[in-house]
Amino acid sequence: MRRSLVGTVAAALVLAATSGWPQDLPGEELAARLGCRACHAWQGVGGARAPALDGVGRRKSRPDLERQLTSTPSRRMPSFAYLRPQDWQALLTFLEGL
Ligand code: HEC
Repeated sequence: MRRSLVGTVAAALVLAATSGWPQDLPGEELAARLGCRACHAWQGVGGARAPALDGVGRRKSRPDLERQLTSTPSRRMPSFAYLRPQDWQALLTFLEGL
C-alpha cells in the first residue's frame, strides 16, 4: 500500500520534472497529472491519506493554498514549488472552484 503510493507520487514527480507540460493545461488536468489524488479525494474520487479537497476554496484563501503547496509544514505533502507560474495560476484557480 505504502509502496504503491510512493510509486504513484514518484512517477508523477518524474513525469513533471522530465517532460514539462506540452502546453498550458487546465488546473484539473494538472491536479490529475501531479498525482494529488494519491492522497486527496475530491468529488468522491481519490485517496484518504489527506483531507478531501471539496470546498477547500471556501476554507482557504488563494495565498494560503499557494503556501500549502510550497511550504509543506507537516512534511506529509510534497512541495510543488517547481511548477511554472502559469501552472500555479491554473492549479490555484481549480482549487478555488472546488
Ligand atoms: C503524499 C500525499 C499528498 C499528495 C501527493 C498531495 N497532498 Fe495535499 N496534503 C497532504 C496532507 C497530509 C495534507 C494535510 C495537511 C498537511 O499535513 O500538510 C494536505 C493538505 C492539502 C491542502 C490543504 C487542505 C485543507 O483542507 O486545508 C491542499 C489545498 C492540498 N493539500 C492540495 C494538494 C494538491 C493540489 C496536490 C497535488 C498538486 C496535493 N495536495 C498533493 C498530502 C498530500
